Amino acid sequence: MMNTMGAFDGRVFGFGMPRLVMGMGARQQLADHAKWFGSKAFVVSDPGVAAQPSFAELRRSLESAGLQVATYTDVLPDPPLRIVQDCARVARAFGADVMVGVGGGSALDVAKIAAILNRHDVPIESMFGTDQTPGRGVPTILLPTTAGTGSEVTPIAVLSDEDHELKRGIVSDHLLADYAIVDPELCLTLPPAPTAYTGMDTLTHAIEAYTNKFAVPLIDAFALEAARLVASCLARAVHDGRDREARYGMALASLLGGLCLKSVNTAAVHALAYPLGGRFHVPHGVANSLLLPHVMRFNAPLAADRYAVIAEAMGYEDCVEAVESLSADVGTDKRMREFGVEQQHLPEMAKAAMEVQRLLKNNPREVTEPDALAIYERAW
Ligand SMILES: [Fe+2]
Repeated sequence: MMNTMGAFDGRVFGFGMPRLVMGMGARQQLADHAKWFGSKAFVVSDPGVAAQPSFAELRRSLESAGLQVATYTDVLPDPPLRIVQDCARVARAFGADVMVGVGGGSALDVAKIAAILNRHDVPIESMFGTDQTPGRGVPTILLPTTAGTGSEVTPIAVLSDEDHELKRGIVSDHLLADYAIVDPELCLTLPPAPTAYTGMDTLTHAIEAYTNKFAVPLIDAFALEAARLVASCLARAVHDGRDREARYGMALASLLGGLCLKSVNTAAVHALAYPLGGRFHVPHGVANSLLLPHVMRFNAPLAADRYAVIAEAMGYEDCVEAVESLSADVGTDKRMREFGVEQQHLPEMAKAAMEVQRLLKNNPREVTEPDALAIYERAW
C-alpha cells in the first residue's frame, strides 16, 4: 500500500458520526426517530426543497405520528447570520423538542446552529472557529437532498459573515446530529447543475482528505471509496437524474466524503474557495471545482504517490486529468472571470484566503500568499 506510513507516527485522531439510517425510502423512518425526542418537531429547509412533494410528505408523516410540526423554509445559500438568528427565534417560540433539517448543506448547517441557539443564548459570532460552542443543542435529525457537502454527518457549519464578506466556519462536536437519514430518493429531482457542483464538492473532500498532511488510514479508506464512487456515478446522475443506482452511489460518496471532515478535513482548495463564496457568491462546489486542478498541480511535487492512488481509484493514469475530464463532462469546468471576479481582485482574495489557516495547515505543500495569488491567476 502506498505511503500510509505517516499514519503510524504516533498520530492520534478522533472519529465520530451521528446514528445513521440509509437506503431508498429511509425517510419513512423520520417520525419514529423524531418521536423519541419529544412531541414538537421543527423542520428547517429552503424554499426550493419546501416546494417539493417529498417535503409535504415528510411533514405529513410527522403529523400522522402525533407530532406538532412548525417549519422555517427561508434558508438561503451561503446562509447569512440573520437567517440563522431568525430560524432559531421561530424555533424557540415554538418550543422545538427536535430540529429536522431537510435540504442541501445550507439548510442542514442552519438547523445545526439553530439547534444550539435554542438551548444557549449566545451570539453566533462567539462560536466561529473550533470548539467555541457552549454545549449541545436540541436533538437534531438531518436529511440531505443533495450529494453533497456531507453536512449530515459533519460537526461543521459554514455561514456567511456578510459584514465582512467572508464565509466562516463553526466546528464542534456539539454540531454532530443525533441522526442522519440518508435517502437517495430525496435527490432524484435535483437538477443537473446542482447535482454536478455538489458532486464535485464531494470529490474535493475525498481528494483533500486523502492527500492531507494529517491523513490517517481509517479516513483514507472512506476518501478513496468516495473518489471511486464519484468517478463512476456523478456523470450518470447529472445526465439522467432518475438513475437510482447513480443517485445511491453519489449519496454514499457524499456521506463518505463528509466522514473525512471531522478527523482530517480539507485543505487549500477549500481555503482558496472561501473568498470566492464569501464575496462573489460562487456556489461552494463550483468554487472548489474550478480551483481543484490548479491546487493539485501545485501540490503534485509533494503528493505524487497519493495522487497516483486516487487516479487509479478513478480509473485514470493521471489524477489531474481524471478531475478535469469529469469536470468538463458535468459542466463545472469554469473560470473565476465568469463570476464577476476581476484580475485586480485577486491580490485581496489571496490575502483573505491566508486567513483560513485552519484548512491551509492541512495542505501537503505550504501555501504562501504569493502561491495563493499564482493559483488564483491560473484559475482566473
Ligand atoms: Fe466542501
